[in-house]
Amino acid sequence: MQDVAVIGAGHMGTAMIAGIRKQMPDVRIEVAEQSAERVRLLRDQFGIEARDAYTPRPGTVVLLAIPPQAFEEFAARAVPGSYRDCLVISVMGGVTVAAITKLLDTQRVVRSIPNTPSEVGQGMTAFCANPSIGEADVEAARRVLSAIGGVLRVADETLLDDASALCGGGPAFVAHIAGAFADFALRAGFDASQARAIICQVLRGTADLLELTRRDPEEVARQVMTPGGTTERGMSVLRQRNLHDVITEALDSAAARSRELGAIGK
Ligand SMILES: NC(=O)c1ccc[n+]([C@@H]2O[C@H](COP(=O)([O-])OP(=O)(O)OC[C@H]3O[C@@H](n4cnc5c(N)ncnc54)[C@H](OP(=O)(O)O)[C@@H]3O)[C@@H](O)[C@H]2O)c1
Repeated sequence: MQDVAVIGAGHMGTAMIAGIRKQMPDVRIEVAEQSAERVRLLRDQFGIEARDAYTPRPGTVVLLAIPPQAFEEFAARAVPGSYRDCLVISVMGGVTVAAITKLLDTQRVVRSIPNTPSEVGQGMTAFCANPSIGEADVEAARRVLSAIGGVLRVADETLLDDASALCGGGPAFVAHIAGAFADFALRAGFDASQARAIICQVLRGTADLLELTRRDPEEVARQVMTPGGTTERGMSVLRQRNLHDVITEALDSAAARSRELGAIGK
């Protein structure tokens, strides 16, 4: 496997470093990071000496994990053509394949949307490859991204804006709902650790039930609802308040914001 250079070791970059270290121990990792605090954390956590700037080396997989707003300035500092012998994998929200190929002057670009469960190896990453790159690059990208969890390739790049809402934002939306469960549990008299144990197992169990039985989500919900029973009573509140539409509206807004951010580099 090629060497990997991680540019930007914030939340996402650090999760990727941890995943690659664990799943691909033979891969050499170099890091460019401009925050002194993060540089210190990298030294303590991984024994990696990060630099504040990056000069591309041929044959390297470059993982771009800087904020989207920092990308134009980062690219402006690159020597034209210097990324052509690297495979560039971006995790930057909203920055298109076209913008990355143009600003970094290379065709070898994969754009991906990971999420924060990557931190515990349970990420879900959707990615889209520039159509002009070879299958070897696509497979290399798939291998690197698999180090942090599940991976899904999409052919149509516009789906990445929706994946940004679903995969990128999904953990926030689900955690927000988990927060309501936690408030209820604490109010009812469970202690914080009991509440956490219940919520995590309910989330995990529901996810496994959906995945392993391949049942439709509404069918899973219906199965819990005995007519006249407790869940049916609770569900009627969710339906009256139209929680389903509130959530789809939140996803629509998140996807629209991703499209707005897609203006970067155009
Ligand atoms: N967090 C998520 O759930 C998630 C999901 C999908 C995609 N993403 C994408 O992942 C990227 C990183 O997100 P994050 O949450 O990890 O952000 P973050 O925690 O702010 O990390 C970004 C890091 O990059 C550093 N940086 C900025 N410009 C740099 C440069 N030119 N060279 C080297 N380092 C530089 C920043 O340093 P300073 O703080 O000093 O600027 C910061 O430490 C973003 O593009 C985001 O859209 C994030």
